[in-house]
Amino acid sequence: MEQPPLVILMLSIHGLVRGHDLELGRDADTGGQVTYVVELARALGRHPDVERVDLLTRLIDDREVSPDYAAAEEKLGPRARIVRLPFGPKRYLRKEVLWKHLDHLVDRCLHYLRSQEKLPDIIHTHYADAGYVGMQLSRLLGIPQIHTGHSLGRGKLQRLLESGRKQSSLERQFNFAQRLAAEEEVLSHTSLIVASTRQEIVSQYGDYLNFDAKRASVIPPGTDTTRFSAPGRRPIPEPVCRMVDRFLEIPEKPCILAICRPETKKNLHRLLTAYGEDAELQQLANLVIVAGNRDDLRTMEPAQQQVLVDLLLAIDRYDLWGKVAMPKHHRMEDIPDLYRLAARRHGVFVNPALTEPFGLTLIEAAASGLPVVATEDGGPSDIIGNCRNGLLIDPLKPETIALALKTALTDRKTWRTWARSGIAGVKRHYTWAGHVAQYLHAVRRVLRKDRKRFRRQLATLSHDRKSALPLARQALISDIDNTLIGNREGLEQLIEWLLVRSGRVAFGVATGRSMAGTVRMLRDWRVPMPDVVITSVGTEIAYGPDLRSDPGWAKLIRHQWRRDALVEAMTAIPGLALQQRENQRPFKISYNVNPELLPPLDRIGAYLQRHNLRANLVYSHQAYLDILPVRASKGQAIRYLAYKWGLPLHSFLVAGDSGNDVEMMLGDTLGVIVGNYSPEIRSLKGRHQVYFASAHHARGILEGIAHYQFGDSCHPTRLLTS
Ligand code: GLC
Ligand code: MG
Repeated sequence: MEQPPLVILMLSIHGLVRGHDLELGRDADTGGQVTYVVELARALGRHPDVERVDLLTRLIDDREVSPDYAAAEEKLGPRARIVRLPFGPKRYLRKEVLWKHLDHLVDRCLHYLRSQEKLPDIIHTHYADAGYVGMQLSRLLGIPQIHTGHSLGRGKLQRLLESGRKQSSLERQFNFAQRLAAEEEVLSHTSLIVASTRQEIVSQYGDYLNFDAKRASVIPPGTDTTRFSAPGRRPIPEPVCRMVDRFLEIPEKPCILAICRPETKKNLHRLLTAYGEDAELQQLANLVIVAGNRDDLRTMEPAQQQVLVDLLLAIDRYDLWGKVAMPKHHRMEDIPDLYRLAARRHGVFVNPALTEPFGLTLIEAAASGLPVVATEDGGPSDIIGNCRNGLLIDPLKPETIALALKTALTDRKTWRTWARSGIAGVKRHYTWAGHVAQYLHAVRRVLRKDRKRFRRQLATLSHDRKSALPLARQALISDIDNTLIGNREGLEQLIEWLLVRSGRVAFGVATGRSMAGTVRMLRDWRVPMPDVVITSVGTEIAYGPDLRSDPGWAKLIRHQWRRDALVEAMTAIPGLALQQRENQRPFKISYNVNPELLPPLDRIGAYLQRHNLRANLVYSHQAYLDILPVRASKGQAIRYLAYKWGLPLHSFLVAGDSGNDVEMMLGDTLGVIVGNYSPEIRSLKGRHQVYFASAHHARGILEGIAHYQFGDSCHPTRLLTS
């Protein structure tokens, strides 16, 4: 069956992302991930099954970095581009401090997607920060998410704690709490995890409560192997030969080649022990160690110096002069020739590292037709599994290293097979073209599973020009209890304010009450019927004055909602009593809470996960707990309206006082918290665009209106659809 080509949205937020001259290593955020996403986007854009790829990242407008990062768009090819959206401060920020601005990015993305002709078929997020943003978009738009972690917080936290750092200072520096929570949530939501190695799945993702191996695929990244090739007839440049041969008594012997940075974990000293202890091995081959560049050992960084000094001492102890080469200098361009030199001499490449997350050098060696011997810890087992071009060793046992090297060096027939299948294996598994073929296969599988395509409907709804509020340029959405209502005089002033602006400023309420309870309350307080009524904590939306309910919303939030099973599972949680009948709704289960008995919310969340149940838990006033579909909350309902009406979120002023109002306040909306707020909302203090009024109830809302100069007719917000 002919399948329509795909529109892919990739999100990779931090670091310096551009299409040329990547500034790799300039800082901790601009490294492997940036290369990965740019190369993947390009490769996808070349595939005939892909209609368009947008790689969305942060727009950085900062004199300290190149103006390239301030361009809103950059082409990566005919069907691939980088799209940059600004959020938070303009300047370049390290990834750990981006967290508090991510909700703004969600809203910028919604606005951006609304302006596109076609919504993406899939959202592919990279690293926890993008995972967090993409998950919100995925929930709201009903587009499946796939995720690549690149590196995960749990392992990093553990390593830092083991190295003696204090949890509290780590938290300040790295923001682990938010990162780990986001990672858990993304893992529970995402349809597919793309990992680079099997080891990554077992030892990194395996630590997470919500990780489900059934939703993970190993698709190794492509590598640019065009620089690497079998020796062929092309001569090896003279300087490269000289660089090695000047150390050696019999240079034409096969050589054992190691290329790595001089770091303890690369385990070079055990390699040297293996060689030094084994006379037969010394007879068979020379050992060539290319471990960075050095000028004066004495002025090197102590850790590197130590590694090199140990090697030199071992060479002397075993008296390996004339058998081991350890060049002082080499250039990046020499590396391909070094592999070719070793391959021409029927040598072997060795990577004895204690642990090797991926093993790029092994792929380079394979592409050069050079068999390999490598550590069994980490990526190499995948590579050798795919390329069938060598042997794995236990890096802690020098004898087994020596044995494997001898096997590779003595059996000519095996050597030739390994050399050939290495070259073929790299083509099949480690090029971007190979990656993309596997990737698209996995994406199609996700899309087939994701039969319920809410977004189709959302897309038609959103492009309906006769939307509920065709003329409004701004919207004021208020919680009812303890916000809109509580002070008669303030309320009357607010109603007056709204009447003057009716037509231009839409009025809505967003409440935990049911529709019936809402109508009663509004009538009692003589509030005119709002344009939009969001009830039952965001699970129901209706439009005034005849309260027509929005069927699209119910369809969208139904996702993963298993009401009966949730009610059943929650009976095991102490401190809860179901609220009265009227408060139990199709998409809302509500409890009264005894705060002394209730376990922490994240524990309840994890418990539900274990029972394969997904829900949004909302705690308010230390007295109520609401269980909602993952896609529903007052905040999500507002985003749905913004999207549907084509109004940017910063034209929404939202007012509230308690826990179920929190999500409305995050992101681009103009948040107002009335003076009589409930303690659980205090955590929003200091957030951008969250104003804490000192006046109570409706007067607090008016104070917020004045603060933002909201509704001033001289600044009408442009409608996106107009
Ligand atoms: C309202 C609702 C109740 C809910 C609470 C918190 O009081 O009636 O069901 O639990 O808001 O959202
Ligand atoms: Mg309230």
